[in-house]
Amino acid sequence: MAEPLRIGIAGLGTVGAAVARVLSEKAAELTRQCGRGIVVAAVSARHRERERGIDLGTAQWFDDPADMAAKAGIDVFVELIGGEEGAARTSVRTALEAGRHVVTANKALLARHGVGLAEIAEKRGVLLNYEAAVAGGIPVIKTMREAMAGNSVSRVFGILNGTCNYILTRMEAEGLTFDACLNDAQQLGYAEADPTFDIEGHDTAHKLAILSSLAFGHRIAADDIYMEGISNISQADIRAAAELGYRIKLLGVAQRTDSGVEQRVHPTMVPTASVIAQVHGVTNAVAIETDILGELLLSGPGAGGNATASAVVGDIADIAKSRPGFQHGPVFGRPARELVAYRKARMRRHAGGYFIRLTVQDRLGVFAAIAKRMADNEISLESIVQRAADAEAQKTVILVTHETTEAAVRKAVDGITKDGHLLDKPQVIRIERAD
Ligand code: HSE
Repeated sequence: MAEPLRIGIAGLGTVGAAVARVLSEKAAELTRQCGRGIVVAAVSARHRERERGIDLGTAQWFDDPADMAAKAGIDVFVELIGGEEGAARTSVRTALEAGRHVVTANKALLARHGVGLAEIAEKRGVLLNYEAAVAGGIPVIKTMREAMAGNSVSRVFGILNGTCNYILTRMEAEGLTFDACLNDAQQLGYAEADPTFDIEGHDTAHKLAILSSLAFGHRIAADDIYMEGISNISQADIRAAAELGYRIKLLGVAQRTDSGVEQRVHPTMVPTASVIAQVHGVTNAVAIETDILGELLLSGPGAGGNATASAVVGDIADIAKSRPGFQHGPVFGRPARELVAYRKARMRRHAGGYFIRLTVQDRLGVFAAIAKRMADNEISLESIVQRAADAEAQKTVILVTHETTEAAVRKAVDGITKDGHLLDKPQVIRIERAD
């Protein structure tokens, strides 16, 4: 049997500890599958003494992960530290430059520096595997990188953040507050160290940036993503959505248009009957639409130690199975030097339906003024509903538009605001076509 694959794990938090546990518990099966053992030869974490409930055997300890990347006798550096700069970036770069394979779950690092790191990996002839970076345990990277050659992607979209989906699901099903749901997501180990990364959409944007590059072959452009989080979604929106036959999800969408590629992250109304609307809790889902394949939907656990560890261990096993002359292909599905510049489609040109919720004074002419602003901007309405609001002398007006543009909606809502009838900030939520 071949020599065992020697790995070094940097970061022993929820995911790192789960990876060590899975490698130990499944050692015999992994050895059979890979034709060689996988040995944790080195580890690095911030707190050496912390009790993690895992046996690290004779693994060599390093206080500094970059030191481990440079000096440990390892074939694979497994980066589970997180963060786009600092120790994660330095140590991954060091490992690649030292000619070691890298496995990482770090979406922020890849979204920011992925192309540069891919260039180093490809030059050194080593693998940079990152299945766990997008949608937790769902094998979407392998699918897009290895199984879809020749397909032209028109749209990739999905629920890419378990924490947000968990919060929205529980707010809808149990009428709970946003804060209570977020607290539970943190206890369950779904949320990022800084949960604003989840709820304000950054985490989804990092993942979308990677998927968009794989889908459309452009250099990663995380800074060009339009982004809105879910922190201003209220029970009023959730209830109105349900009445109108929609459910609210935080979606990441990358879509080819005539003027470039749209990349956007925002709360989205999806039809209640659509498949993506049935994705609940921490589950993630990714839909990919292509010319040859048609529509593919992958769904599964998107966050948490075991789901993420499953993807990390799969990446490590791929390396264990690879032999000289039999390795997987380039990091982003095509050589990094072949990735084209990102051509951004402007958000104001986005076309789609919109949900608009307004809290207005209960006064003669308000309804007519709103309708006029819509007509002036050539926005055709699918429905317009007026309801009693929470306080007296207030009304809630809910509009659902037919397909229009972002620019028209922004102009109409600005006009309504200037008319002076609004008693609260207008709420605008985009509607996404989904089957
Ligand atoms: N905080 C992330 C989520 C973890 O909630 O989906 C997985 O990237």
